[in-house]
Amino acid sequence: MTPLVLGIESSCDETGVGIVRGTELLANSVSSSMAEHVRFGGVIPEIASRAHLDAFVPTLQEALATAGVTLEELDGIAVTAGPGLAGALMVGVSAAKALALATGKPLYAINHLVAHVGVGLLNGGSLPENLGALLVSGGHTEILRVHRLTDHVELLGSTIDDAAGEAYDKIARILGLAYPGGPAIDRLAREGDPRAVKFPRGLTAPKYMGTAEQPGPHRYDFSFSGLKTAVARRIEADEAAGTPTPVADLAASFQEAVVDVVTSKAVLACREHGITTLLLGGGVAANSRLRGLLAERTAAAGIELLIPPVSLCTDNGAMVAALGSQLVMAGAAPSSLDFAPDSSLPVQTVQL
Ligand code: KG4
Ligand code: ZN
Repeated sequence: MTPLVLGIESSCDETGVGIVRGTELLANSVSSSMAEHVRFGGVIPEIASRAHLDAFVPTLQEALATAGVTLEELDGIAVTAGPGLAGALMVGVSAAKALALATGKPLYAINHLVAHVGVGLLNGGSLPENLGALLVSGGHTEILRVHRLTDHVELLGSTIDDAAGEAYDKIARILGLAYPGGPAIDRLAREGDPRAVKFPRGLTAPKYMGTAEQPGPHRYDFSFSGLKTAVARRIEADEAAGTPTPVADLAASFQEAVVDVVTSKAVLACREHGITTLLLGGGVAANSRLRGLLAERTAAAGIELLIPPVSLCTDNGAMVAALGSQLVMAGAAPSSLDFAPDSSLPVQTVQL
């Protein structure tokens, strides 16, 4: 059977409700509270949680209307159980439990990171063998090895401080650009010289990288805090010297440092783990330089690159429904209704 599954996402600032039948996407309704965070320059968890509460029912109704289905017709309900902001997760999880209890439908509490990979299966997509994923957003920066989507996912590397998108947002702020900083820096960088300043590439020194035979402690990990400090120091130095800051050059050089290290470590992880197809996910997948350099480097290494449409790369409910549907089809037992969301749910736990 091809199950009809509703997916609920509320881990950060997007309230998402998606509906799929098997791997066919029927609806993907998203309400974002991003505008409410602009004046703070970053997502404020309490504001995001309240916004989920406001947006959930209208977003659900819109998704049901778009798909032309009723709650009674569903075969299952899937919800993001983590990782993410604790309060924000609780809103989606509470809503999902209430729906499951009221309708008697089975509930699947799933991992947000693995759901990012699940969208690759929608609308005729396929996820071949030897699959890896590179997830880059405001909340995460990870390299995954996906042995089997429904129950065997391995974390190869992740950030040890800021997420890549978070670094974009922070640097945009110190450069005087609007939030969210990613699109602003992406645009401005086109007018700048990426070689103007050689900013540090985090965790690329031999003591972190080691060798293929003897990997160092952070071979596939990322760090953006040193880069952030270097950009800030440079701006301070310009100010102290009374010289104008070359904003476009700094944006381009910062972006090059992020994208260089993200793409080179992703390709290295693929090579060393036999990954032959790499899926890109997360909001930073919209970045033009990341797309360009990753395409170049994966092609040179003989790795196939999958980039879903941006509306499915950013946080949404369809990805949750897509993974939920895979679990139903794999015969996974539903989650019991007494789970709590886990803000740091490890990627190995595909379902609670
Ligand atoms: O996946 P997403 O929508 O949700 C969260 O992680 O919250 O990702 C949002 C992040 C923000 O940090 C934003 O600055 C970044 O993705 N972003 C970009 C671009 N578009 C969005 N970063 C770089 N270049 C872009 N074009
Ligand atoms: Zn995400």
